[in-house]
Amino acid sequence: MANIKIPKGWEIPENRVTPESVYINRRKFIKDLGIAGAGAISLFGSTACAQDSKAEKQLKPYRDQKLEHKKNEAFTVARPQTEEIIAATYNNFYEFSSGKTNVWKLVERFKTRPWEVEISGLVENPMKIDIDDLIKQMPLEERIYRFRCVETWAMVVPWLGFPMKVLLDKVQPKDEAKYVRMTTFMDPDVAFQQNNNRLPWPYVEGLTLAEAMNDLTLLVVGVYGHILPPQHGAPIRLIVPWKYGFKSIKSIVSIELTDKKPRNFWNVILPREYGFEANVNPNVPHPRWSQAKEWLIPRRDVSYPTRIYNGYGEFVAHLYK
Ligand code: MTE
Repeated sequence: MANIKIPKGWEIPENRVTPESVYINRRKFIKDLGIAGAGAISLFGSTACAQDSKAEKQLKPYRDQKLEHKKNEAFTVARPQTEEIIAATYNNFYEFSSGKTNVWKLVERFKTRPWEVEISGLVENPMKIDIDDLIKQMPLEERIYRFRCVETWAMVVPWLGFPMKVLLDKVQPKDEAKYVRMTTFMDPDVAFQQNNNRLPWPYVEGLTLAEAMNDLTLLVVGVYGHILPPQHGAPIRLIVPWKYGFKSIKSIVSIELTDKKPRNFWNVILPREYGFEANVNPNVPHPRWSQAKEWLIPRRDVSYPTRIYNGYGEFVAHLYK
């Protein structure tokens, strides 16, 4: 939104941070459901982990697979970029763990190639395509976006991908199509938390067709110049930077155009806490904690004001008039 003053957030130190206990409640809920992983209690200690040479070693094969792309200079952020190793060792991927700092260690057996993505439902040209064939057909670009988790942590990451609109134009949504429903892979042998049948696997997320067609909405196949490592949702994930991170579904196998609003994973589990729209908004608190502030991983001790639509109002505010 043109008339919103974008403050230089990193210049405003804030000593009062939201108590850790409120986030631990979300973990407690999950723990009560019986899926707490080994890392569930070490939520915020990513720095030591990030220094770990094992993490560097885990990343290496992915770093070696560079993706050709152009940089889209329209999307940069006046905030320091998050170090790659920090972002790669602090993940939410509940298929593998309800912790964050151990996800990268648990994805070893997760094979993300070969991989097919199906685009179906209310479209003129349904398709099923191998991920590398899809990548060859798409105009890959790098965009540096702010990313904001509903739990108040944030990061700044150079994603590599293509606008979802390019793919949707290819399959041609029918007039009746109103929503896009995306689904993550299902493989309980590899993703152990999927054996917990008290959670509504597979992970599903959705957007309105207008949100999916917005220029900001990216299908992401790489990060920091190379293919996605598994912990970030390889081989293809969504990034919708004006929404809380849980909307940005990982490891997608199906994209379905529909006339019905999809029930999303977190909305099914906790409908009073996680909605469908989930736009970043400092003025609407989560029922159990404030959304007014955020902190940049790994510095939990410094917080910044949250921005409406995560600072992307000029691109998306019109969608919600
Ligand atoms: N997608 C799937 N399939 N499973 C998940 O648990 N977590 C979401 C989102 N996409 C999640 C998911 C949440 S809560 C966040 S904050 C982001 O992924 C985290 O992305 P990152 O690990 O790449 O930072």
